[in-house]
Amino acid sequence: MRRRFLVLGHDATVDPSFSLGDLAGGAGRMDVLVRVLTNALCVSHGVRTDTEVWLALVGDDERGPRTVRFDGASVRNLNPDERSAAALVKKALAVDVVPNGVFEPAHPGVSVAEMPYSEAVVRFSEAGPVVLLDREGEDLRAAADETLGMTGGAPGFVLSDHRPLAQEEHDDAFRVAEGRRVSVGPEWLQGHQVVTLVHDELDRRGR
Ligand SMILES: C[S@@+](CC[C@H](N)C(=O)[O-])C[C@H]1O[C@@H](n2cnc3c(N)ncnc32)[C@H](O)[C@@H]1O
Repeated sequence: MRRRFLVLGHDATVDPSFSLGDLAGGAGRMDVLVRVLTNALCVSHGVRTDTEVWLALVGDDERGPRTVRFDGASVRNLNPDERSAAALVKKALAVDVVPNGVFEPAHPGVSVAEMPYSEAVVRFSEAGPVVLLDREGEDLRAAADETLGMTGGAPGFVLSDHRPLAQEEHDDAFRVAEGRRVSVGPEWLQGHQVVTLVHDELDRRGR
């Protein structure tokens, strides 16, 4: 079944001149975001055509926020290595966008908008039920299909990067999630690990 992930990037740069050789440093933890991206979209020998990923980057005073959207059904040149995935993000960030909420094409299957996280989560919710991923939420394994957003279209899961969601960021997601909050287990995991567990659960239920 179709599913979607939105990850908030607090530190990842929106400057397209970042070095592909320095994703964890100069690019401001872009490595965390591309790990989520590749874990969400890549399977062994292929790409999940049923999955969409949104990277909501907070941005800086100079460039403003960017939301980069990847569609597994049409993305090209996405490989499991972080460097090639980051190259697609870099290409998207180089697109000249204006703050009008419109996604501009950057590459086949990749588009970008000047859009803050607060707006991105609302737009994200327009295509299906949203679920907030949170250790304190309902157990993924025990959750009803409805809690996982599986009964109302393509569920969309929201998570953060290596930083906790600030209260306002949490509230923005919680509001559009209409209270759906799911935990994948008792440990705080890394985002890409959480994504893999969610995929696995939806894959099993979809069988
Ligand atoms: C590296 S974690 C952030 C950890 C950070 N200590 C915090 O308090 O949010 C990245 C994201 O993965 C998700 N996450 C991590 N562990 C989780 C769990 N056990 N269940 C559900 N989501 C989880 C959350 O959305 C979290 O924001």
